[in-house]
Amino acid sequence: MPEKRTLAIVGATGAVSREALAILDAAPEDDPLAQLDVRLLGSPRSAGQTLTCRGRDISVELFTPDSFAGVDFAVFAAGGAVSRDMAPAAAEAGCVVIDNSSAFRMDESTPLVVPEINADLLTDVAIGRGSILANPNCSTILAAVALYPIARALGIERAVISTYQAVSGAGGPAMRELLAQTKAVLEGESARGRIFKEPCAFNLFSHDSAIDPESGRNVEEEKMLREIDKIFASADEPVVPPRLSCTCVRVPVLRAHSESINLTLRRAAGERELREVLAVAPGVRLRDDRANNDFPTPRKAEGGDEVLVGRLRPDPSQDEGRGYDLFLSGDQLRKGAALNALQIARRLLERG
Ligand SMILES: NC(=O)c1ccc[n+]([C@@H]2O[C@H](COP(=O)([O-])OP(=O)(O)OC[C@H]3O[C@@H](n4cnc5c(N)ncnc54)[C@H](OP(=O)(O)O)[C@@H]3O)[C@@H](O)[C@H]2O)c1
Repeated sequence: MPEKRTLAIVGATGAVSREALAILDAAPEDDPLAQLDVRLLGSPRSAGQTLTCRGRDISVELFTPDSFAGVDFAVFAAGGAVSRDMAPAAAEAGCVVIDNSSAFRMDESTPLVVPEINADLLTDVAIGRGSILANPNCSTILAAVALYPIARALGIERAVISTYQAVSGAGGPAMRELLAQTKAVLEGESARGRIFKEPCAFNLFSHDSAIDPESGRNVEEEKMLREIDKIFASADEPVVPPRLSCTCVRVPVLRAHSESINLTLRRAAGERELREVLAVAPGVRLRDDRANNDFPTPRKAEGGDEVLVGRLRPDPSQDEGRGYDLFLSGDQLRKGAALNALQIARRLLERG
């Protein structure tokens, strides 16, 4: 009988944590995730609330520096400040920390893990021996899952990425803001918000992260550029990262991000070859039915584990076979956060 392992979720009542609970709840019995003892940790605001997982009511415990005794995995989903403060203590206590925030992503010693791409980074990680692993940014994970197999097979010289990001990327309160504003506008009132400076209902706007006055890029765009570099360079089969340009935009969608991507391949390839690469790419599902105008949408991606890729077509402005456009949608609360974290835990559990 394998040893029973404990997983703690920090920030248990948030959007990412609730998704993690939903994944654990739905895990089939033969999934090692189904065997985990789950503990929920939260701030004084949510301590005492009860959430349900696998038929068990679990009370949210107040999160303190002593919370990690006997905990094997800690999924941090309570924001960067909490991670910076507490993840080192959790690792010190012997936990494998899987952090959803950006606090440690670019630290040289912190693996930035997308299991489909660089699972070999987990070779040096062991249950019971404290460590901190980082989940990439949500838009970055979705782009990386779709682009890495293309980069490995054909090489990508450059890519231009435009995102259409759901409000849930800014957490549970942002989802409630979109719903409340939508209702207000439909009732003839003005859309007032607390999370976003711009109205989010019936609107779209440049991503709400800070803009660097020199480069003109916002933090979300910067994350995409730097994290893709780090992930591709640390891949099990490393590839030369593409030169990237990115525009991140928030759209009035509750969950699941979408991205329009324009590529320049390093070597010319036919559309069929590109389709063949994507058809077998782990974590990707081609949804590209031109006859029925059936392509990826956030609604189709919502609740799913795969990144939906479609609208694949040659870019007529580039040399034949070198330029392509595609469009993707993926549930960023799942593959962009909770699912990616639990896939990492699953790999470590399977290894024993
Ligand atoms: N949403 C996404 O799509 C996404 C994707 C990738 C990564 N992430 C990252 O994942 C993290 C969580 O995001 P989220 O969207 O789930 O945010 P969220 O919905 O706002 O949830 C944050 C959670 O953290 C809790 N919390 C706040 N301060 C705490 C403290 N001191 N101790 C313990 N718990 C505390 C909050 O509980 P109270 O309400 O009780 O304060 C809430 O349950 C963030 O770092 C975010 O950047 C999010």
